[in-house]
Amino acid sequence: MIRAIDIRKSFGTLEVLKGVSLAVDAGSIVAMIGPSGSGKTTFLRCLNGLESFGAGSVEVDSISIAAGTPDFSESLRLLRVKLGMVFQQFQLFPHLSVLENIVLAPVRVLGKSREEAVENAQELLRRMGLDSKAGVRPRELSGGQQQRVAIARALAMKPSGLLFDEPTSALDPRMTVEVASLIRELSGHGLAILVVTHDMNFARRASDRLAVFHQGLIVEEGPTAQVFDNPQSDALRELFAHADIGASGSPPG
Ligand SMILES: Nc1ncnc2c1ncn2[C@@H]1O[C@H](COP(=O)(O)OP(=O)(O)O)[C@@H](O)[C@H]1O
Ligand SMILES: [Mg+2]
Repeated sequence: MIRAIDIRKSFGTLEVLKGVSLAVDAGSIVAMIGPSGSGKTTFLRCLNGLESFGAGSVEVDSISIAAGTPDFSESLRLLRVKLGMVFQQFQLFPHLSVLENIVLAPVRVLGKSREEAVENAQELLRRMGLDSKAGVRPRELSGGQQQRVAIARALAMKPSGLLFDEPTSALDPRMTVEVASLIRELSGHGLAILVVTHDMNFARRASDRLAVFHQGLIVEEGPTAQVFDNPQSDALRELFAHADIGASGSPPG
């Protein structure tokens, strides 16, 4: 379970998050959509402690951090372990092999033996259909393959939740469908998943609930089909007007 309560965040005088509350249950997928610059990435970064925040709190299972939690605190360290993040540009370590990318954190952060971490990494690569790529550098892989390495790297920490920032932005349509089914499979194993996306079709396909983000606030939230079919906010109607699908899933007339 991931729960954000009234998160506020400013960069200097720019108030980016104005009191954001959101819950993602274990085994469920929430998609977050909203215009560029509305604060979605900042929100994800606050959730797993990459960014400090001015007010509010974050809970992941039994771990909780509040605004002002010191950067070196044990709860922040645990939160980062419990909540994996798959970045938009994947952010794999370019100088390490695919296998070493996955092995690094379990050894360094969790104190696993190298043997155990390697065995687990190989199992994850098998699951991702990448066992033949263990020895290559990330740049030798396609975008979709790099993303699966990034997902395997996050899963190696055995998190209870995963955050995805625009997972389809670097992918072709066929890969987009595959990512949707992979995310579904992960939630089927009990992970709580929050996906930021600008792809309405992907959001509809991949999520159980939809949160609409606008100017630093969630302006609408509910079961995905219900929100799509009966949008309540001007912000969502505006997004539909600029997307290639309408509220009913057909092109706007
Ligand atoms: N480190 C930072 N310093 C200053 N401003 C930032 C920083 N990160 C993001 N911003 C600003 O915060 C706002 C929200 O950005 P972001 O969270 O990336 O939005 P989104 O992911 O919805 O496109 C933007 O105006 C952006 O320029
Ligand atoms: Mg962003």
